[in-house]
Amino acid sequence: MIKGLRTAFVLVAMLCSCLPANAQEYQPSVGQAGKDVIWVPTPDTLIEAMLYAAKVTPNDYVMDLGSGDGRIVIAAAKRGARATGFEYNPDMVELSKRNAEKAGVSDKATFVKADIFEADFSQATVITMYLLPQLNLKLRPTILNLKPGIRVVSHAFTMGEWNADETIEQEGRTAYLWVVPAKADGTWTWQANPGVAELKLTQVFQDITGTLKLNGSELTIREGKLEGDKIRFIGGDREFTGRVNGKTIEGIARINGSEEKWSAAVAQTNP
Ligand SMILES: C[S@@+](CC[C@H](N)C(=O)[O-])C[C@H]1O[C@@H](n2cnc3c(N)ncnc32)[C@H](O)[C@@H]1O
Repeated sequence: MIKGLRTAFVLVAMLCSCLPANAQEYQPSVGQAGKDVIWVPTPDTLIEAMLYAAKVTPNDYVMDLGSGDGRIVIAAAKRGARATGFEYNPDMVELSKRNAEKAGVSDKATFVKADIFEADFSQATVITMYLLPQLNLKLRPTILNLKPGIRVVSHAFTMGEWNADETIEQEGRTAYLWVVPAKADGTWTWQANPGVAELKLTQVFQDITGTLKLNGSELTIREGKLEGDKIRFIGGDREFTGRVNGKTIEGIARINGSEEKWSAAVAQTNP
């Protein structure tokens, strides 16, 4: 009897070793060690809320930094977006590829075995992450140098003094959304009527303060804000809106129901 059981066990073991590798699927465990942070998956309902807040469409390229079992990348691909996950653990990378295949999105969802601090995520239009506060802070300078308008969504952790543009609450969990602001720090001038207007801006992340010299008076600007490349501030009784494009700003100034164009060039950038 014992001998028969032993033979059966040996046969089953032999059979298993002949099966393709993916038949003996790698099972990750929540809380398992990772290079810089453990693996804990983001719940599906929060993923949907994060992608909704970031307004992910089929035109987007979503990149998840530390992609775990691939669930955020797969959810983005299901929305029609192209999506890539960077993950240090090669077993998780292979598991993610299988998960994407099962979900029928392997044409849109790709996974790369990489360290997030060496990966190139400059092509992303949306970046997602569930890391740690100090890792977010380490990534922050790189993120702030990306193209204005890129949306960044972080599950649970903030970006230090870079305040979120939106907070997402879902079933007791929190995620934060930022829009990478354009660089507007410095002095801008344009031909006004009469004379030259001078706008001196001090930028702290997406917030701008400063002064506007216009029509012979100097005003402190109010409500200064950047959202990606979009700029808005109030100067006296005028509302200025526009788009920052490198060394120029093109926009509209509204006063008492009438509109006039303004087109500024940078005269000096702040150090
Ligand atoms: C908290 S989990 C989040 C997984 C996934 N983004 C999600 O929200 O479901 C963090 C993941 O980052 C991975 N990771 C840790 N350090 C990393 C690094 N330096 N480069 C790439 N991945 C890393 C871990 O293996 C883990 O899968």
